[in-house]
Amino acid sequence: MKKRIICAIGLFLALDIFYGCGKRQEVPSTKDESEEKVQLKWVIGMSQCNLGEPWRIQMNHDVKQAAEKYPEIKVIFKDAQNNSLKQRAQIEEFISAEVDLIIVSPKEAAPLTQPVAASYERGIPVIVLDRRVMGDKYTCFIGADNKKIGQAAGRWIVERLNDKGKVVELKGLMTSTPGQDRHTGFREGIKGSGLEIVFEADMKWLEPDARREMESALARFDEIDLVYAHNDPGAHGAYLAARAAGREKDIIFVGIDALPHEGQIYVKQGLMAASFEYPTGGKEAIQIALDILNRKKVPKEITLASRVFTKENIDRGGEWLEEEKSTLKS
Ligand code: FRU
Repeated sequence: MKKRIICAIGLFLALDIFYGCGKRQEVPSTKDESEEKVQLKWVIGMSQCNLGEPWRIQMNHDVKQAAEKYPEIKVIFKDAQNNSLKQRAQIEEFISAEVDLIIVSPKEAAPLTQPVAASYERGIPVIVLDRRVMGDKYTCFIGADNKKIGQAAGRWIVERLNDKGKVVELKGLMTSTPGQDRHTGFREGIKGSGLEIVFEADMKWLEPDARREMESALARFDEIDLVYAHNDPGAHGAYLAARAAGREKDIIFVGIDALPHEGQIYVKQGLMAASFEYPTGGKEAIQIALDILNRKKVPKEITLASRVFTKENIDRGGEWLEEEKSTLKS
């Protein structure tokens, strides 16, 4: 009991130091410190499922950069280190600390559904970024359409392989919604073609896992024409396995994410044939957060547009998958 009280006091002090007394602080404006002072009005808690991958670092960077323009908000970042239980606890901590809004990029849908719903029901708005939770107890979802990306990748691959060939599919974590949608979309995209999926495995979005799975595929199949990986680290891991086996020149590699300093570089170098963009939504999350905090009505769902990057189009900035740049669904 005594221990519990000490812990509670400790937590209170830590949060007080963290957020400042009663959240309301004078923050010097970037313009002129003496003349104009903007009040810190809102604290946003951001739970990122992991920071082990370049795409996630980019997302946090985008959130931070967008938030820095608004002295009235402060973002507290937490890294769940690819652990759903840890991420659940982070949301619960944000709720107890009574932050004004939560942004979460969940690791997996099922385990994060309950704490997100709890926050929403308590009146703390939640923006879900990139990977979904289940049901509709959240304020706004922001992300690209993974099914559409999977379909586009499927159609692009059918064309590239002239309607026939042996394909390896390296899937993202199948308990996360982008993995599920990039898989079903892709299968729809190749439906009716002469493509054969000779090997498929869940590489959980991780390059080392993709490399290991690809080693198994290479050991089992003498002919592999193309690897479709659900993200660029996966495609790169597969490439490294093929290179170690001296077979990288016989295989085409396709991935998703197209970060300027990752997938786009691989395409430029000719290591990957195509990468489909998966925007982080970090900037949009801050814009929507401000709208929510300023009590404006926001759409339930914001779908971000995506481009494909190939050797042919990379110098002109890729090509949009759809005509509109962004579709808003409410
Ligand atoms: C990073 C990542 C990206 C991928 C996204 C899907 O963790 O694996 O590579 O596009 O998550 O949620």
